[in-house]
Amino acid sequence: MISLISIRMRKLELLLLLLLATCHTIFSIPDGLLPNGNFELGPKPSQLKGTVVTARDAIPEWTISGFVEYIKAGQKQGDMVLLVPEGASAVRLGNEASIMQKVKLVKGMFYSITFSAGRTCAQEEKINVSVTPTNEKRNWGVFPIQTVHSSYGWDFYACGFRADNSDVEIMIHNTGDEEHPACGPIVDSVALAVLNHSKRTNENLLKNGDFEDGPYVFPNVTNCGVLIPPNMDDPHSPLPGWIIESLKSVKYIDSDHFFVPKGKRAIEFVAGRESAIAQVVRTQTGWIYDLSFAVGDANNACEGSMTVEAFAGKETVKVSYDSKGKGGFVRGKLRFKAVSSRTRITFFSTFYSMKTDGSLCGPVLDDVKLLSAHYFRHR
Ligand SMILES: *[C@@H]1O[C@H](CO)[C@@H](O)[C@H](O)[C@H]1NC(C)=O
Ligand SMILES: *[C@@H]1O[C@H](CO)[C@@H](O)[C@H](O)[C@H]1NC(C)=O
Ligand SMILES: *[C@@H]1O[C@H](CO)[C@@H](O)[C@H](O)[C@H]1NC(C)=O
Repeated sequence: MISLISIRMRKLELLLLLLLATCHTIFSIPDGLLPNGNFELGPKPSQLKGTVVTARDAIPEWTISGFVEYIKAGQKQGDMVLLVPEGASAVRLGNEASIMQKVKLVKGMFYSITFSAGRTCAQEEKINVSVTPTNEKRNWGVFPIQTVHSSYGWDFYACGFRADNSDVEIMIHNTGDEEHPACGPIVDSVALAVLNHSKRTNENLLKNGDFEDGPYVFPNVTNCGVLIPPNMDDPHSPLPGWIIESLKSVKYIDSDHFFVPKGKRAIEFVAGRESAIAQVVRTQTGWIYDLSFAVGDANNACEGSMTVEAFAGKETVKVSYDSKGKGGFVRGKLRFKAVSSRTRITFFSTFYSMKTDGSLCGPVLDDVKLLSAHYFRHR
């Protein structure tokens, strides 16, 4: 009797194993957290020396290198409580330390990586996210980790890449060079999403003018909005079509957490004139074009008068919006004549805005459309 049961159990085990094996081979990552992307599964006690992880493969699904700490929520360093962005644990990367994960992707597709990070004791920390192998000259992006954009002590960041192989490795590296090796940034919630890179249409000469195509936004966290750092042009932009110009990030926001003028996604200018967003479009020299867009506020208590400036050809317009911080928008328009075969369309916020808690905020931009007046006249 007992042996019969145990044989049955074996069969069941075998079936389960088989099933798991099949799942593993057809496994291609859906939008969302990477396996153990939030580091909730940690090292065995024998693989920890205090908080320091002592074995390369101690954190399930990840490989580490260098001085990596496994941080539990509520843990202190001196008087300072170390912030864990999500769940019960996160990792902290010391000087030149890295975490890596191998993922299976669809070759040729574009992806975005979203992760949360907060700085700890160092003034300025930088994280280098890279993807290998690649056919490009550059396959990495550097993120300055600041804490001026949220009142939580950490933020979400995103970058984009094209999968040049079906097996790639994502590496998150602290480029820091602090006196104290444990002064590095805390990293949590690493997610991946497919970017569509949809084409321009006759309805809109701009690509991704409504900002619907963009990085993964976590549905269930309170601190939301994803910072998109500057100078990541296609294919590294996690916001297909758009380039973040100048020095600072813009924030990608979604309608689950914020007010957005149209659809589910929009951007917020959180660094005044220091963050501009641009797109270069093909135009016919001498033709007249109409640019239209929505300027509003995200319903995030960002109050005051706001102005968004738009540039195209030789024209410019300033659109003012008086924010009560409760959501809403106005429409802006710019008619211009194309002076060359390529026109750069640029937007930025004239002023800095700040919430009462000191975090930076600003006007929302959405529903950006470009049409040729010429095209419609002659259709
Ligand atoms: C970022 O990481 C990649 C891959 O390791 C490396 O080639 C690149 O030089 C790094 N960039 C910086 C600024 O550290
Ligand atoms: C991307 O394309 C997929 C499949 O066509 C679609 O389901 C999804 O909504 C698109 N996402 C965005 C942000 O456009
Ligand atoms: C948020 O959602 C992700 C993915 O659905 C899940 O893994 C994670 O545990 C959730 N976090 C919280 C705080 O509920």
